[in-house]
Amino acid sequence: MAKRLDGKVAIITGGASGIGASTVHLFHEHGAKVVIADVQDNLGQEIADKLGKNVSYIHCDVTNEDDICNLIDTTVAKHGQLDIMYNNAGIIDSPSPLGRILDTKKSDLEQTISVNLVGSFLGAKHAARVMVPQRKGCILFTSSAVSAIAGISSHAYAASKWAIVGVAKGLAAELGQYGIRVNCVSPFAVVGTGMSSEISEADKSQAEDALSNLVGNLKGQILKAEDVARAALYLASDEANYISGLNLLVDGGYSVVNPNMVNIFSAFMG
Ligand SMILES: NC(=O)c1ccc[n+]([C@@H]2O[C@H](COP(=O)([O-])OP(=O)(O)OC[C@H]3O[C@@H](n4cnc5c(N)ncnc54)[C@H](O)[C@@H]3O)[C@@H](O)[C@H]2O)c1
Repeated sequence: MAKRLDGKVAIITGGASGIGASTVHLFHEHGAKVVIADVQDNLGQEIADKLGKNVSYIHCDVTNEDDICNLIDTTVAKHGQLDIMYNNAGIIDSPSPLGRILDTKKSDLEQTISVNLVGSFLGAKHAARVMVPQRKGCILFTSSAVSAIAGISSHAYAASKWAIVGVAKGLAAELGQYGIRVNCVSPFAVVGTGMSSEISEADKSQAEDALSNLVGNLKGQILKAEDVARAALYLASDEANYISGLNLLVDGGYSVVNPNMVNIFSAFMG
């Protein structure tokens, strides 16, 4: 297998679980030295121990600028460079992930924005601090399909994920002069990560089936964390060396298709 990230150093926030953990495994397989940054210390350390000396774990709450500084500085001290900063850590607002505006507390909005947007912003800021003098680097974010189609999440989550795309595009403009590429991956629903922990094991396959056969555009396929990791791998690799400012939707076409009108026509016209 050709290794697509040989010699590169990557940080992945939210790397202890779900999409982040899949990306850690894939980047490692492709020859990167990977630093997992998360608040789930046991899970993060377990992955690092399993994968060996090229993968390490650092406790980092992305909402805390001192933690982010420490993450970046420790990585550069250990590996001498930082090539890929993947700002992936995120939360959905609890207790109302699909909450209407009148049910949403200011504190829910602030917490979601704090992790998803402020955390990603700080990660990008301190990565840029070391990438600008290097005159190269790749900054990635996990946004979401909610950045391309309305009404499928809470307002707080949608606001945070739209804003990430705005930050990414602005950074692509600012940092292009230093050879730094900035992009987003925006997944459709992935069942089975920490975010869907409230769905019982028994209901998971039903949820996947409904997403795949009723809701999704690519019928019969289920979006897995590994699929999102492969999109991140592409954007992080030199194969994407002229791609910057992109919001790569990993949604099987969901956000550009609206079958409702055709369904109505079919019902009346056969
Ligand atoms: N699962 C989906 O359907 C889906 C769809 C679109 C986008 N996303 C996005 O993908 C990203 C990863 O989500 P996931 O589905 O893998 O969920 P997940 O819960 O499995 O992973 C999120 C990780 O972020 C970490 N995290 C949360 N708060 C943090 C903080 N303050 N500091 C550091 N780490 C923190 C968690 O500990 C966890 O390991 C998120 O940004 C999420 O919004 C997920």
